[in-house]
Amino acid sequence: MSELNMDKIVSLAKRRGFVYPGSEIYGGLANTWDYGPLGVELLNNIKDSWRRKFIKERPENIELDSAILLNSKVWEASGHVGNFSDPLMDCKKCKSRIRADKHIEDWNEKNSTKLFPQKWAGEFTPSKDLFEFITSNKILCSKCGANDWTEPKAFNLMFKTEQGVIEGEGALIYLRPETAQGIFINFKNIQTTSRKKIPFGICQIGKSFRNEITPGNFIFRTREFEQMEMEFFCKPGTELEWFVFWKNFTYNWFLNIGINSENLRMRDHEKDELAFYSNATTDVEYRYPFGWGELCGIASRTDYDLKQHINLSGKDLSYFDESQKEKFVPFVIEPSLGVQRTALVILCDAYNEEIIGENDTRIVLKLHPALAPFKVAVLPLAKKLSEESYKLYMALLKEFGWNIDFDDVGSIGKRYRRHDEIGTPYCITFDFDSLEDKSVTVRDRDSMNQERIKIENLNNYLKDKFRF
Ligand code: GAP
Repeated sequence: MSELNMDKIVSLAKRRGFVYPGSEIYGGLANTWDYGPLGVELLNNIKDSWRRKFIKERPENIELDSAILLNSKVWEASGHVGNFSDPLMDCKKCKSRIRADKHIEDWNEKNSTKLFPQKWAGEFTPSKDLFEFITSNKILCSKCGANDWTEPKAFNLMFKTEQGVIEGEGALIYLRPETAQGIFINFKNIQTTSRKKIPFGICQIGKSFRNEITPGNFIFRTREFEQMEMEFFCKPGTELEWFVFWKNFTYNWFLNIGINSENLRMRDHEKDELAFYSNATTDVEYRYPFGWGELCGIASRTDYDLKQHINLSGKDLSYFDESQKEKFVPFVIEPSLGVQRTALVILCDAYNEEIIGENDTRIVLKLHPALAPFKVAVLPLAKKLSEESYKLYMALLKEFGWNIDFDDVGSIGKRYRRHDEIGTPYCITFDFDSLEDKSVTVRDRDSMNQERIKIENLNNYLKDKFRF
C-alpha cells in the first residue's frame, strides 16, 4: 500500500458518509465534525463493544449517565477551575500566539533534543519557568524568527456558560471537560442504592468539552468529543494490582476490536511526569499517520478526587467495609478514552489499498465485523430480481436487527467496491439461479472468496460471524 496519510482517511470519511466538516454550508466551523449515517454506526458499535467488555461482561461494574452541567464547585474540587489550563504566549513582533509547552516540544522534535527534561506536567508547571526557558535557550518564533515574547498566561480550557434566563445575571457554569467527576460525585448514591461492595467500577459514556488551543488532525483532538471512562473503586493498598489488571484489560480490548499490535504501544509515565495525585499512569499510544500519539490513558488516581469532594462538599464519601468493620476512602483506577479518537484509530488501522491487476486499486476497510457500519449488503444481480431479493433483505433485518444495506443500482463490481470501501464484511448476491436453487452467493470482503449458501441456512451462517 502506498503511504497512509490523513488526507486519505478524511477523504474516504467524507465521500462515504462517515464524517463531514461541521457547519459546512456556512463556510464551516473550524475543527468541528458531523457524523453521517456510517459514522454514527461506527461510533455506536465502538460504544457497544466497550459497554459489553467493561460493563456487561464484568459483574462488578455498573453504568451512570450524569449531567453535563454540574455545580461549579465540582470543578473547584477537582482542580479544573484552578489548574486545567494551557500556558499561552504571544510573539511581540508578529503577534502569533503559541502554547509555550508545545513550542518547546516541537523544537525538541525538530532538533532531536530533549531540552526541557522535566516534561510539561500539564497543569502544574509554572508558566514563568517556561518563559525563561524559551527566551534563555533562544527557542525562536517559528513564524518570524524573533525571540521577543509576552509572559505566558494561563488559559483555562473549560467552556463557560450561564445558567438562568437573564443575560449577565445567571450563575457561571461550565460544560464538563471530562465525564469522570460526574462519577465521583455520585459515588455514595450509587454505592448505597446498588449495594455494591468494593472493589467495583462505575462507567460512563458521554460528551465532554474542552476549549483546546491546538485542536486538529481531523477527529484526533476536537473541542467537543465523547469519552468512555471508568472509575474503579478499590481498597487502599490494592490499587497497583488493579492498575495492572485494567491496563492489560484495556490493551486487550484494543486487540480484541482488531487493532494491529504493531501500531500500539504502552508508555508508562516517568515519575516526574506523573500528576501529583497519581502513583502510576500509562498511556496506550497508537502509530497515527502523523506519528505516535495518545489513544487512551489509564491512571491510578489514589483517593485524590473523593477526598477533594469530601473536603469541599463536607459530605462523607467514605466506604464502610462490613466484613472487616473498617471505614476508608477508596482508591481509584481510571481507564479513560475518547470515542472519536478510537474511531480514528480504527479507520487508520483498517484502511488498505490493494493493487489488483494493472491500473486498479481496491480500497478496503478491514474492520472487525462487529464494528462495521453495515454488517451485510443484499445485492440483486439485476433490477428484475429486486423484488425477490428485497424480501430476503427484510427477513434478515427482522432476524438480526442489524444495519443492513440493500443496493440494486449500478454494476455488481462497483457495488462490491463501494462496500469494500465502507468495510461491509459480507455481500449477498441474489442472482437468476437463486430463484430456482433458493441459494445466494456470499462474498467475503477480505478474501473476496465467494460461497454458495442455501437461503434457509443463511441465518445460521451469518449468526456467528460478528462476535468479538
Ligand atoms: N478523566 C481523565 C481524562 O479526561 P485525558 O487524558 O484528559 O484524561 C482521556 O482524556 C482521553 O480522552 C484521551 O486519552 C483521549 O482519548 C480523549 N480526549 C481527551 N481530549 C480530547 C480531545 N480534545 N479530543 C478528542 N479526544 C480527547
